[in-house]
Amino acid sequence: MSNGCLETTRRTVPVLSNPRPRQLGYGRELPQAIAALRMGATVLDLGSGDGAYSFLAATAVGESGRIIGVETAPEMIAQARANVIHNGFYHVSFRLGELEHLPVADRIADAVISHYGINPSYCKTQVFREAFRVLKPGGHLAIVDTVATKILPEDVEENDVLYTECLSGVLMLDDIEDMLRAAGFDRVQSQIKQNRNGFRPASATSRALKPIVAPALIEAVKPA
Ligand SMILES: C[S@@+](CC[C@H](N)C(=O)[O-])C[C@H]1O[C@@H](n2cnc3c(N)ncnc32)[C@H](O)[C@@H]1O
Repeated sequence: MSNGCLETTRRTVPVLSNPRPRQLGYGRELPQAIAALRMGATVLDLGSGDGAYSFLAATAVGESGRIIGVETAPEMIAQARANVIHNGFYHVSFRLGELEHLPVADRIADAVISHYGINPSYCKTQVFREAFRVLKPGGHLAIVDTVATKILPEDVEENDVLYTECLSGVLMLDDIEDMLRAAGFDRVQSQIKQNRNGFRPASATSRALKPIVAPALIEAVKPA
């Protein structure tokens, strides 16, 4: 099983000219999990980008709740903070940091969400351990990301084009579920979205992967 860690040097995360992943043609599965968020909840958004999904979550938790987006690209943080002012959502904040070392105290979150924020991570096992650490007992993890439905060619992980398209870190669903259980999560469940029509690969390299990747919603609970 892959441990989702690149042992090679860490890459600089490329800043997409248009950072909104839905415009890269990805799915919209996270709202299903966001809809289940409780009013007043504290929610962490991993790999929050310009904050598009943080703001969706902010609406679900109301002003008595709190959303913290964590993002490694300063340009994205600046954009997300500008969006806070633009949207007038002052219960949303963004912290510059790595998912592998979340700049957040232990057991503060009722929920952790991520919309296509995990695949670019250089070490997913560590991200899941961190998600477990910051969740309160009974807290809920819901992530949407692209997964592999068949074994991928070996060179995928190191491919820069695929990295830019957030596809180089794609893992098999079984591996992700095993990593979550190893981090301590319970009630791990996932759904592969069979409708791949929304997947519009940007390059010939990623087009070749289309038959063997799909978006998935993956959920888990930190034992109470
Ligand atoms: C495909 S974008 C998703 C953005 C956002 N979740 C959305 O759906 O609009 C992935 C984001 O994760 C960030 N990212 C990549 N690796 C990261 C890491 N190790 N730690 C924190 N953020 C990371 C990238 O800078 C990028 O903004």
